[in-house]
Amino acid sequence: MPLQIVVVPASTKAGRETIRQLLESQRKPLVRGIYRDPSKAPVEFTQHPRFEAKEGNVATGTSLDLSSADAVFYIPPPTYDGTDQGEWATRCAGHVKDAIRQAPNVRRLVLLSALGSHHDHGIGVLRLNHVTDTVLKDAVREVVIVRPGFFQEEFASALETAQADPPVVHSWITPIDHKIPMVSLKDIARTVTNALLAESAKPSPHVTKILGPRPYGALDLKHAVEQATGKAVDLRLVEKEELAAFFGQHGIPEAHVGEFVEFSEACLPGGLIDGATEPDENTVIGETELTDTFRELYAKGAGRA
Ligand SMILES: NC(=O)c1ccc[n+]([C@@H]2O[C@H](COP(=O)([O-])OP(=O)(O)OC[C@H]3O[C@@H](n4cnc5c(N)ncnc54)[C@H](OP(=O)(O)O)[C@@H]3O)[C@@H](O)[C@H]2O)c1
Repeated sequence: MPLQIVVVPASTKAGRETIRQLLESQRKPLVRGIYRDPSKAPVEFTQHPRFEAKEGNVATGTSLDLSSADAVFYIPPPTYDGTDQGEWATRCAGHVKDAIRQAPNVRRLVLLSALGSHHDHGIGVLRLNHVTDTVLKDAVREVVIVRPGFFQEEFASALETAQADPPVVHSWITPIDHKIPMVSLKDIARTVTNALLAESAKPSPHVTKILGPRPYGALDLKHAVEQATGKAVDLRLVEKEELAAFFGQHGIPEAHVGEFVEFSEACLPGGLIDGATEPDENTVIGETELTDTFRELYAKGAGRA
């Protein structure tokens, strides 16, 4: 019998890339993606004979059917409607836990978490992951918590501002020589796919950190944009005292701006997450450079309206 893997919510960035890699895997698992709105499942998946899109909502618990699953990948989705992160995380993770209780075949749960989320305070938006990990860490016999650095793709808006006149890239990573852990979704999905498909002999819950080939800073961001677009861009550093205004202007709802500021400050020199770039024996080092990710995003049309 082929393994059955459920990815929930499937429309998350990490969910999408993991489904892609599961469908390419030689192990040929059956893959079920749970969407709030299944019509959002990409055609590249729905045309695949080993993929099925199902409706389900982690916020309400509605039709969250995991009964056929051998392994589940849960990505705690963010909330932007002003709900307290801890309350939101508890509610959604509680629904996933209930669904797992009614699914006796599930023997492995992989949780997308984040570097730094082992702290219980001072990490802003990552409280979502701290609380989720706490609720679900013993939900099944084998729980794997993956803690990647910042998604490289999260900086793709720099490809858009590079089209402005004059071309510019903003960086909240300061000072200019500071670097933070960043990793591509491809590298994250590779680790998650392996964890979903293979039993681990390690004790549960098991934490795996995922880093990129190196940490990156403001000058690396500028360089990656210039490499991808072929254009010289100005670099503008967003200083600590400008962070709230910056996130407010970049689409973060007012109720959540404070959490983004707290998270960013935790990544800056002396912050709680600063220094998390050191690998240990439970760290996977990715292969994808920031320049490769930006070249690919640009080739696919990012920043070119
Ligand atoms: N972004 C990073 O750099 C980073 C780094 C490390 C860890 N993480 C973690 O990765 C996770 C995802 O964060 P993200 O900001 O990158 O989000 P994301 O992957 O962009 O996911 C957002 C999507 O989740 C879906 N969703 C939201 N609420 C849902 C619900 N109630 N039921 C089903 N689907 C729902 C929505 O899809 P539809 O609108 O299509 O339904 C929404 O577009 C978080 O736990 C975050 O802490 C992120």
